[in-house]
Amino acid sequence: MTYVVTENCINCKHGDCVEVCPAEAFHEGANFLVIHPEKCIDCEMCVSACPVDAIYFEANVPPDQQEFVALNARYAELWPVILDKKPAMADAASWHGRPGRRQLLDPAPAAG
Ligand code: F3S
Repeated sequence: MTYVVTENCINCKHGDCVEVCPAEAFHEGANFLVIHPEKCIDCEMCVSACPVDAIYFEANVPPDQQEFVALNARYAELWPVILDKKPAMADAASWHGRPGRRQLLDPAPAAG
């Protein structure tokens, strides 16, 4: 099993999860983070660290977020590891609680 980042992270990227992860399991895209399922050690530290409740245990991912299980695994292979917290995206607060963001997930890796 693994933990999974879901829709609430898109366009927010608060990054508090990165700070608490002991397994260097987070990978960074342009507007989203994912967890590498083979690096995740199921410690659960990231769940309470995320201020927008974007992270779920794989077995508890809500039905409307199931697509993110495969998206985390896929982009973890394509995007660079992120080891240090960066500032959240500039307009993160304006996205809090807004549904329907899946189509806004940018497949590009984080710049720099
Ligand atoms: Fe995203 Fe939450 Fe981490 S918004 S970057 S999963 S702290």
